[in-house]
Amino acid sequence: MTTDMHNLNLSMDPFENFQHWLAEAKASMGEEMATAMTLATASKSGRPSARIVLFKGTCRDPKGLEGFKLFGNYESQKSRELLENTQAALVFFWPLLGRQIRVEGPVERLSDQEADAYFASRPRGSRLGAWASPQSQKINTRDELLARVVEVEKRFGSDGEVPRPDNWGGWLLVPERFEFWQAGEYRLHDRFLFERAPTGEGWQRSRLAP
Ligand SMILES: Cc1cc2nc3c(=O)[nH]c(=O)nc-3n(C[C@H](O)[C@H](O)[C@H](O)COP(=O)(O)O)c2cc1C
Repeated sequence: MTTDMHNLNLSMDPFENFQHWLAEAKASMGEEMATAMTLATASKSGRPSARIVLFKGTCRDPKGLEGFKLFGNYESQKSRELLENTQAALVFFWPLLGRQIRVEGPVERLSDQEADAYFASRPRGSRLGAWASPQSQKINTRDELLARVVEVEKRFGSDGEVPRPDNWGGWLLVPERFEFWQAGEYRLHDRFLFERAPTGEGWQRSRLAP
């Protein structure tokens, strides 16, 4: 293979590259599979934990920096850890394309307006579930959970509006580093690292050994 085939045609803008790869992943494996990402967080003492969440698009923070949006319960383990240690990481794995993207950086709480807009777009059942489920708390039985759903349904009526609970919302991970990984023959994979330039403007790109 020529060197050209291995430059992956990555531009200097990692968000642009991410969107390009995401579109290809969606085309090959569908929206839900393509947007599932691992979110790694760590407690203040440095103990890590990881779980899958769904990528819900990008937006800019109040300083104009672009980031990755995700949503969940603010009292869950992930949110508790993000509150005490804002450093986090994301991993996308698209096996059919032989691709991985790693993203690292601090998180910020998304605005109430962002959280309201996404919450309102969810199916009614998911909105009721967000009220009924004390995410990541210990519960005794599934029946207990279902009883909570029935209670919440009574509270909001069969077709009443279901507002966003105060303890539910979103996080924005603002990347400082991206790594794009493309599987290659004989394990000679291609890896490109993008680091936010020290000036805050633009990105520095490097090739990493596989
Ligand atoms: C495909 C998939 C998508 C998921 N999406 C989300 C999500 O967007 N937000 C969320 O809070 N949990 C999501 N979950 C559940 C999480 O993996 C996890 O169980 C939950 O967030 C509690 O994690 P925590 O106790 O570490 O906070 C998803 C799980 C799977 C398998």
